[in-house]
Amino acid sequence: MSAAAPLASFRFRSEPPSLWTMIRQGVADVGSVIPASILTDDAVQLPGVGAPLVVSSPQLAREVLNDRADHFTRDRFIRRLFRRSWGKGLAAAEGEDWQRQRRAVVPFLSPRAVKDHLAAFATAADDVLDEIGDGEHIELGTLSARIVARVVLRVLVDAGTLADPDAAAADVAPYIRRIAGFSLIDLLPLPERMIDQLHGIDRDPAVQRMRALGQRLAEARNDSASRTDMVALLEGVGPIADNIRGMFPAAMDTTVSGLSWALYVLAQHGDWQQRVAREGAELQAVPELEQLAVTRRVVNETLRLYPPAPLMTRSAAHAMELAGHPVKPGQSVLVAIYAMQRRPDLWRDPDSFDPDRFLPECGTPKAYMPFGTGPRMCVAAHFAQAEMAVILARVMARLRIAPSGPAPDVALQVTTRSRNGLHAVAELRDIRRKSPEIAAATPILARQDTA
Ligand code: HEM
Repeated sequence: MSAAAPLASFRFRSEPPSLWTMIRQGVADVGSVIPASILTDDAVQLPGVGAPLVVSSPQLAREVLNDRADHFTRDRFIRRLFRRSWGKGLAAAEGEDWQRQRRAVVPFLSPRAVKDHLAAFATAADDVLDEIGDGEHIELGTLSARIVARVVLRVLVDAGTLADPDAAAADVAPYIRRIAGFSLIDLLPLPERMIDQLHGIDRDPAVQRMRALGQRLAEARNDSASRTDMVALLEGVGPIADNIRGMFPAAMDTTVSGLSWALYVLAQHGDWQQRVAREGAELQAVPELEQLAVTRRVVNETLRLYPPAPLMTRSAAHAMELAGHPVKPGQSVLVAIYAMQRRPDLWRDPDSFDPDRFLPECGTPKAYMPFGTGPRMCVAAHFAQAEMAVILARVMARLRIAPSGPAPDVALQVTTRSRNGLHAVAELRDIRRKSPEIAAATPILARQDTA
């Protein structure tokens, strides 16, 4: 295999931002105002009265997100984002209400329960892969969104025939761009409703369609059919329409980001692509995670290099000191997960792709938190990792992908994304094996094809 080209990285600004840059750019695109010193310093104070303190050491991250979680609340922008997407559902709720909703969904997402969803992950991938032609150019975000939408609309929310996954996949990115599209308007001391009106959120077609879909799926649950999806566990515990609507950004945008970066990285690393393809070809119709040791390491390493949630935000509940910096009540603290996971003092050769950092004998690195930590850590961490592994293995078993198009322009926004997409050309590995059943019946063919 030829040597891989360097992977795309986010370019932190070389100088601290001026006050003017902070005002003009900071609200809309906070990643773009963080200076590169965050890769070496534990904490960096951004300029301006009450501007965020950014932290990147694992100790400080744990302090903010876990050890002293009671001393922090959600920052007002995040509260606004959660209200717009989740209403009063799980991720937006606080106190008793939050605990009840969180406890309700845990059984669906536990490692034992996730085993029952693995076949559905593979089927979701196969349904989309069946439509890919030999030599086709694919935008990896679009491919990932189409697959993940099928998982969300079949496994988490049993949508039956009430939703078109491809329409939902196409709408989710513009929907999130709109509800997370912060600007100077958000600094105005106006009621929330008026801020939303000034942003034109209710008038946005993608927002209208996603909201209507959530409403439609919630209303359909009034029939007598008994469902076994995740939302069923929230019935009588939390608001159903809010939780369905919230699930789209939480379960889709993050997983799509992770999956598309994993495909991008494998397009650059043919050797690892082959190893994942080999595991994928061996998967049975009912996959088992134990068969995916290499693929899971690839997933972990991708989530280190390109954490889907690159910045976690909290707001200080009272005056305090963090890493020698005074923090005022209400001041935002940004936990820069992307920077932490690429710090040269914490990771050997941090910008290179080396899944063997995650060999079992190496233990879990302290500076690795793609799912956060503490009480509000992602409730679906295990589900999402398993989903990514099964889908990645299935995709690689059926497609050989090579990079194409421009180098990614990495942005740290609500998720880690490439402003100009992630592009590849796909070659079908073996069109005789279209379904997992056929693949399961012919592992020897699979072995020959991927050797
Ligand atoms: C690779 C995929 C994913 C990543 C990287 C990810 C990451 C995260 C992170 C970092 C948080 C914590 C945010 C904070 O502390 O401020 C979070 C919370 C959450 N995630 Fe995920 N997530 C992923 C997939 C999913 C999926 C598939 C679901 C749906 C089942 C989901 C549901 C949630 C929920 C409900 C919360 C809020 C938990 C609470 O407030 O108690 N996530 N996620």
